[in-house]
Amino acid sequence: MRDRTEHRKLERTMQIVIIGGTGHIGSYLVPRLVTAGHDVTVLSRGEREPYHHDAAWQHVRRLPVDRNSEDAGGTFGNRIADLGADAVIDLICMTPDSARQLVEALRGHAVHLVHCGTVWVHGPSVEVPYDEEAPRRPFGEYGIQKAAIEKFLLAQTDTPATVLHPGHISGPGWVPINPAGNLDLDVFSALARGEQLALPNFGLETLHHVHADDVAQAFQRSLTARSVAVGESFHVVSARAISLRGYAEAVAGWFGQQANLRFEPYKQWAAERSEASAQTTYDHLAHSPSVSIAKAERLLSYRPRYTSLQAVREALAWLVAAGRVDTGGRELNPG
Ligand SMILES: NC(=O)c1ccc[n+]([C@@H]2O[C@H](COP(=O)([O-])OP(=O)(O)OC[C@H]3O[C@@H](n4cnc5c(N)ncnc54)[C@H](OP(=O)(O)O)[C@@H]3O)[C@@H](O)[C@H]2O)c1
Repeated sequence: MRDRTEHRKLERTMQIVIIGGTGHIGSYLVPRLVTAGHDVTVLSRGEREPYHHDAAWQHVRRLPVDRNSEDAGGTFGNRIADLGADAVIDLICMTPDSARQLVEALRGHAVHLVHCGTVWVHGPSVEVPYDEEAPRRPFGEYGIQKAAIEKFLLAQTDTPATVLHPGHISGPGWVPINPAGNLDLDVFSALARGEQLALPNFGLETLHHVHADDVAQAFQRSLTARSVAVGESFHVVSARAISLRGYAEAVAGWFGQQANLRFEPYKQWAAERSEASAQTTYDHLAHSPSVSIAKAERLLSYRPRYTSLQAVREALAWLVAAGRVDTGGRELNPG
């Protein structure tokens, strides 16, 4: 709360539009911005509510919209421009065409456009942790499209734009990427119960989580640091990545267990999993992010409050409390 009060004193009041603001990021970002005194409008289809109740939502204007159909009809960009915002935070832009439509509509409005990308714009890494200057060698449709959007936004001069690249967003209310690099809750159960767990390869590939509130912090700071943020992209992750093995050992320890791990070559490991789980793991291992936040620390004063393990632990505590993980009666230690 102290952090939010400080922001109220420092930030000038802005009209802020958030596209897709009721999900992981928006659930933290919207209350932050409202508490800082901004006038916030959130657009979404209205199919879901934020992950947590917060009284700040009473002060938010909610507009129902289906971005996909309005993009297709060519009306979405003008709808946003007509709102007359100082800043537009676009959390759900997935194609360069969609970004182009928005930028063209915002031309001449002096709006700061802050786009949500992903660390997967990089593809395979060379030197780690890699920074924003590292080559873009994306693979997979998602990373390729996000890299193309980033390239377009940072090259154009019609609308001042900033791109933020989160890692694996984690927090209470949804399933975090687990030590096997997928979303199977059985992985957490096996570690909690002290059962043997197979990990692919040597368990030394990496994951790079970030707590959703730290992602929200970076979006908020990019608005207040507009003069240095425009024309730039920033990584938004925790201070350090974690190995699958180290992550598994930590989770087991939270339940008073010693991790009982065995290691299998990826192909052998994948053959014993569902196609969907194996594919999710493959995507995470093939990226194995280990990402530098030095630029965001320097230019945005970004200071993640959570380590990777702290972010995951909070998500896991929520899953256990919700009865979603069978721990065999074991409780998470107080930490
Ligand atoms: N999840 C991750 O680990 C991760 C990692 C890196 C980057 N990212 C990036 O994070 C961004 C997503 O942020 P998030 O994780 O906070 O989102 P999220 O939890 O998936 O929530 C999506 C938000 O967009 C709304 N929405 C979805 N489809 C819509 C549509 N067609 N028209 C209007 N609103 C729509 C949803 O509400 P309704 O359903 O009610 O419309 C909700 O408010 C993406 O750009 C993604 O690439 C995510």
